[in-house]
Amino acid sequence: MTTRRYAVVGTGSRSAMYLSSLTDTYAHVGEIVAVCEPNPARAGYHAEQFGFDVPRYEPADLEAMIAEQRIDRVVVTSPDHSHADLVARAMRAGADVVVEKPLTTTADGVRTIAGAMRETGRDLVMTFNYRYSPRNSELRRVIADGEIGRVLSVHFEWALDTVHGADYFRRWHREKENSGGLLVHKSSHHFDLVNWWIDSNPTRVYATGGLAFYGPDGAGAAGAGERPAKGRDAAAGDPWAIKMAADPKLKALYLDAEEHDGYVRDQDVFASGITIEDNLGLTVDYASGAFLTYSLNAHAPWEGYRVTVNGTEGRAELEVVERGWVDNPNVVDPSATPEGAAGDEVRPTGERLVVQRHWEPAREVAIPMGAGSHGGGDAILLRDIFEPGTQDDPLGRASGVLDGVRAVSVGIAGNVSLAEGRAVTVDELELGVNLADQDLDPTAGRN
Ligand SMILES: NC(=O)c1ccc[n+]([C@@H]2O[C@H](COP(=O)([O-])OP(=O)(O)OC[C@H]3O[C@@H](n4cnc5c(N)ncnc54)[C@H](O)[C@@H]3O)[C@@H](O)[C@H]2O)c1
Repeated sequence: MTTRRYAVVGTGSRSAMYLSSLTDTYAHVGEIVAVCEPNPARAGYHAEQFGFDVPRYEPADLEAMIAEQRIDRVVVTSPDHSHADLVARAMRAGADVVVEKPLTTTADGVRTIAGAMRETGRDLVMTFNYRYSPRNSELRRVIADGEIGRVLSVHFEWALDTVHGADYFRRWHREKENSGGLLVHKSSHHFDLVNWWIDSNPTRVYATGGLAFYGPDGAGAAGAGERPAKGRDAAAGDPWAIKMAADPKLKALYLDAEEHDGYVRDQDVFASGITIEDNLGLTVDYASGAFLTYSLNAHAPWEGYRVTVNGTEGRAELEVVERGWVDNPNVVDPSATPEGAAGDEVRPTGERLVVQRHWEPAREVAIPMGAGSHGGGDAILLRDIFEPGTQDDPLGRASGVLDGVRAVSVGIAGNVSLAEGRAVTVDELELGVNLADQDLDPTAGRN
């Protein structure tokens, strides 16, 4: 079995999934030989955690790293706005790429990546981990098996709670030029799910919404009391603060690393400088003739989602409660997966997939769970990333560049729509990629 030489680019919190895999379950197919990370403290933390000792390069030296360390594949886990440049440069320097969602934040970024792929023929694997969650996989199966007929419309509501949702307003995500806003940063997961569930391409987007709750003028600011400059200094019991000093991982990765680059992880969610939205609503038309209505709320008292899929022969409904209520007034690690709180009787944590065909009673569909984290989904995801093409997956969960482009095209068009107050077609973004085309993806069967 060939062992690939890997470099991880951007060693913040998300990189841990890749670093842990490459130093454990996937060490037989991949070896970490370098990291590219501007902050020595963050790079050092992970080297110690996962027990590797490899050279660290600055982002400006990406090409030198790839040449000197003979890198086969880079994993890009840097902030969203940096993806396009790093992906294109890595390919031109001779490496294949695994990139976290979102693929990029702008139409220009799509053109940059498409240009590099055409020029180099290099491979790109996207990480759309939500596909692998058994409930989301099962909804795909229900639709693909024709249980509800041809899909005519989808209604999708996503609620981010005051722990997790608030976290996007604390750090780099809070500026649209860094993250593309939640429509790109967060919703690209959701748009990818819809594109994949209904197997069609988005064509036109109308978006509305704004910053209504967070920020100095947001509705939440009035009741939030006197605000400190950084969440860490907030009075004990402030539900809007994270306590980085109390959490060894947050402390090492961000608080102790701040002196090197001034990256403040715990800005106040009611401070000025936020340029993203916290309440969003969209209508999306699809090539198949179906349409999507979608909403995202980032200050809900519970976290989860509801999806309704209307087909010609019936309807599928998926309801998920990831956390029924927020009971921790003094948040420690907001990025931790919601796990439901005790005393959660009214809105119990859980999931329910119901299918109802016309003229038939509703039936609950069992969601098959595998072994390991995220109901077995993570094991399948990691194999698709580190041993691509080695498992048969009738659901087609492995994703490539076109899936990445399809997903961000909705958010990018949505951002234009928000700015201009009109419906925006995907065509007018001039992405330089035909969404129905396979020409960007050198790997047959993965699109
Ligand atoms: N799939 C998921 O569910 C999921 C979850 C979390 C994050 N993500 C994605 O992972 C990426 C990283 O998110 P995070 O939460 O780890 O952020 P983070 O801020 O914790 O880490 C980003 C790291 O990149 C470094 N960096 C900044 N600019 C760089 C550059 N030009 N080149 C190389 N490194 C650079 C930073 O110093 C930092 O260490 C984002 O794209 C995010 O959308 C995906």
